Amino acid sequence: MYNKRLKHFTSATLVFLIITALFTDSCSNDADESLSAKINRGDYLVNTVCNCMHCHGQRDFTKFSGPVIPGTEGKGGQPEGKGVYAANITPTVLGNWTDEEVVRAITTGITKTGDTLFPTMPYRDYRYMSKEDVTSIVAYLRTLKPIPDSVPKRNLEGFLPGTLAALYQSLYVNNIGKKNIHPPLGDDIARGTYLVKLGSCNGCHTLFNIKLGVFNNDSLLGGGVYFNHPEYNFKVNSANLTPDSATGIGTWAEETFLAKFKNYRNEKAYNYNPGKYNTEMPWSILAEMTDADIKSIYRYLRTIKPVNNKVEKWPQ
Ligand code: HEC
Ligand code: HEC
Repeated sequence: MYNKRLKHFTSATLVFLIITALFTDSCSNDADESLSAKINRGDYLVNTVCNCMHCHGQRDFTKFSGPVIPGTEGKGGQPEGKGVYAANITPTVLGNWTDEEVVRAITTGITKTGDTLFPTMPYRDYRYMSKEDVTSIVAYLRTLKPIPDSVPKRNLEGFLPGTLAALYQSLYVNNIGKKNIHPPLGDDIARGTYLVKLGSCNGCHTLFNIKLGVFNNDSLLGGGVYFNHPEYNFKVNSANLTPDSATGIGTWAEETFLAKFKNYRNEKAYNYNPGKYNTEMPWSILAEMTDADIKSIYRYLRTIKPVNNKVEKWPQ
């Protein structure tokens, strides 16, 4: 009697244990899969669309379009404005930040210690990031190889003391949380709008009014932003991306636009020293966007106001 009951008990327990084991196993597989999907999405955003590393890594301007030097991803230290340096964003620094603190820094510019980041860090654009995307970025940043932190301390004395940062803070950051929604699937224009925000294209393609601390929205993506690299002996003005036929990309077909990016998927297209015809445009990085993403960007760019602004890319 006792034995029989024990037998029953044992087999029931066994079945229970097996089921539990199977269930736990499949759960953790799901969790692993969703974590690795998140890391992959984060990798794509960090290294391609948002090109975080073109600031937070080290660009090599002895090559066309300054590809990021392998091994410098996340190391920081590049000057981004007078007295401001891109931070080290490897686990050496972010390791003791919570996920929420990193999300807040990326989307609002407020750091772990409550300080405001200088607005060359494009949180004004990243505030549009969907929650899934920004948490994927954080998951990916956790996988970066830790690099010792040798970034100089920020020194804003050369700037209008603190005012720019304060302006940005109030102008752009207040409505956080209202816009960080992923664009609906199948809506190409919404997707393109979103990608242009995440790619911070306006940071280089829209003129900035330094006195007011705002972009000149009358010439949104109208180009003419000047970059000077005396150390590499090149200066370049950003292109007009509006649909103006005479001075923008109005006459470009979608295929032309796509082909221009795809060209730089081939290392030969950028692995050479172009001398004074170099560019700030991170072609080698943005070329890795998916075809669908590049096309959505094109479709969005067709909808913005044409701006008549003739740009000389390589001024003498
Ligand atoms: C245009 C250049 C630029 C790009 C692009 C950029 N950043 Fe930054 N980032 C900066 C600068 C500059 C700072 C430091 C600002 C300061 O010290 O006030 C910074 C600071 C940060 C910080 C705060 C670190 C700390 O220790 O305070 C984080 C986190 C960060 N960036 C993450 C990112 C991520 C993730 C991306 C891409 C999604 C990104 N950044 C893209 C320029 C950039
Ligand atoms: C770090 C600055 C920078 C960023 C970020 C940037 N661009 Fe550019 N872009 C430039 C400069 C400078 C040029 C002009 C020189 C050249 O053609 O390479 C340019 C040129 C271009 C051209 C060529 C247009 C023509 O008339 O030949 C296209 C297209 C373009 N950018 C699209 C984009 C898009 C889309 C984004 C955002 C996903 C973006 N750029 C982000 C600096 C930038």
